[in-house]
Amino acid sequence: MLRTHTCGELRLDHLNEKVTLSGWVQTVRDKGKIIWIDLRDRYGITQLVMEEGKTPTTLIDLARTLGREFVIQAVGTVNERAAKNDKIPTGNIEVSVTNLQVLNKAALPPFKIEDETDGGDDLRMKFRYLDLRRNLIRQNLILRHRLAKATRDYLDQLAFIEVETPVLIKSTPEGARDFLVPSRMNLGQFYALPQSPQTFKQLLMVAGFDRYYQIVKCFRDEDLRADRQPEFTQIDCEMSFVEQEDVLQTFEGLVKYLFKEIKGIEVADFPRMHYAEAMKYYGSDKPDTRFDMKFVELKNTERDLTSAKGFKVLDEAELVVGICAKGAASYSRKQLDTLTDFVKRPQIGAKGLIYVKYNTDSTFKSSVDKFYAPEDLKQWADAMDAQPGDLLLILSGKTQQVRKQLNELRLEVGSQLGLRDKQQFSCLWVVDFPLLEFDEETQRWHAMHHPFTSPKPEDIGLLASEPAKVKANAYDMVINGVEIGGGSIRIADETLQARLFELLGFSQEEAEAQFGFLMNAFKYGAPPHGGIAFGFDRLCAVLSGVDSIRDFIAFPKNNSGRDVMIESPATIDPSQIQELGIKLLPNKE
Ligand code: AMO
Repeated sequence: MLRTHTCGELRLDHLNEKVTLSGWVQTVRDKGKIIWIDLRDRYGITQLVMEEGKTPTTLIDLARTLGREFVIQAVGTVNERAAKNDKIPTGNIEVSVTNLQVLNKAALPPFKIEDETDGGDDLRMKFRYLDLRRNLIRQNLILRHRLAKATRDYLDQLAFIEVETPVLIKSTPEGARDFLVPSRMNLGQFYALPQSPQTFKQLLMVAGFDRYYQIVKCFRDEDLRADRQPEFTQIDCEMSFVEQEDVLQTFEGLVKYLFKEIKGIEVADFPRMHYAEAMKYYGSDKPDTRFDMKFVELKNTERDLTSAKGFKVLDEAELVVGICAKGAASYSRKQLDTLTDFVKRPQIGAKGLIYVKYNTDSTFKSSVDKFYAPEDLKQWADAMDAQPGDLLLILSGKTQQVRKQLNELRLEVGSQLGLRDKQQFSCLWVVDFPLLEFDEETQRWHAMHHPFTSPKPEDIGLLASEPAKVKANAYDMVINGVEIGGGSIRIADETLQARLFELLGFSQEEAEAQFGFLMNAFKYGAPPHGGIAFGFDRLCAVLSGVDSIRDFIAFPKNNSGRDVMIESPATIDPSQIQELGIKLLPNKE
């Protein structure tokens, strides 16, 4: 071995021991008579010391040639440090060097390999292997490893079996675009990379595996965001002979176990929220319930506190809805203008923002004083449970749009008021999703989760007459406003599955061509089954209080789906293209 100990290991217990350490040079401090070297490896940092008169001159000369990130091996004796460093676990000792060897030189790294680095995002991604030497990123990947291990332990205890499913498959309908792989042996035909192992896990249930899981790569060609990567990892699970309640209990158990094992936190039972409730009170199917600030409707189909005062915008609105920001009546004109600009950004698309300050002296100051008397505004304030000192923020328009817009505003105001503490965790289940949603663009019904999701038995009668009202046996797990996982009880009945495909606009031939294998399998005795998949990268990020999942992926892609380190995607050799029997259209530019 090129070392007897790691750089994080030595303590006062090791005094006077002769040790060999290997690692990277973090810093060299040359004070003339004494040279200190901080030697780093995955486990920590140990201080090496060399002193004129004590250390052979040849070694001191060699030490003076060392650069940052050189790989060295040092032999020496463990001594107590004169000046202790209580910031690192090895801070009580140092190693007095008796031999030193350069194992490998290193070019000057393009950024500092320290917690506070001077490297920008692009540079760090290009040299990701250097970025990965930094504590922060390494700790993230260690957390990821521990989460995966704890997940396996928990599921193993419950008799789940990890089964690998293929990566070269046929399209799975999870709603995003597929990544396609041309087949050389079957010219003109393509594999698709799985958006999830959905159909395979259902086939494993037909095969009698009873409880399956897999920590598995999934691929989706969709627009990227902080919490989306084109290839990401799921904890994918499926169970037989279960109802929704069994799945929720099992996987609430998993997440509680992970919080306990990884964070040492006992999380309370997860509340359940109906989809309709989530949309009405939070404008989102993944509400951030770390803070309250629920929506209050001032005008809807049941009541109207805003019309007939001459303000056309609200008179014509389908929905007038607001939030009460506690203690924010002191917001300045500038702060209110910034919030107005925020909701008017094209990504949010509101036409304007109404504010009502309920001042501490119980007077009102609003952006609609021209139309509404203080008594009217008091009525709004009462409806919104506001106290003097609070600020009401109100939007109006078409129901769906205005809810979405107010959701964004609620999150922004929540952040501004410091209500979204990243070390506080609020978990819940969102249940009773609609089975279908109507897509105006294609004028077709789409499965809100996926086409294998079963309708609530009591709603099956509505499938033909009122598809919009059919609820699904589907559920999402949400933590701090992030969709961490989602799943459903599946359709195990061939006839019902065929009806669903028909409703989704598949002809019998299309359904047969795309999913014939699954429907066929159902002919041979499919058990009632259901499952869930967690976004593993998201789980790592949320547990760590970080927004971007990239920090938890060893080699992530950037926002254009590129790996700037290996430079992929890349063009390929014309001979490869020919071999695959595909023709490239000329580049548009
Ligand atoms: P769904 O499509 O909801 O369900 O995906 C499950 C979970 O995967 C995570 N996720 C992502 N994470 C990072 N980048 C992405 N591009 C990305 N897309 C999804 C989310 C999400 O909740 N087969 C079903 C599960 C089932 O029904 O059992 C499925 O894949 O956290």
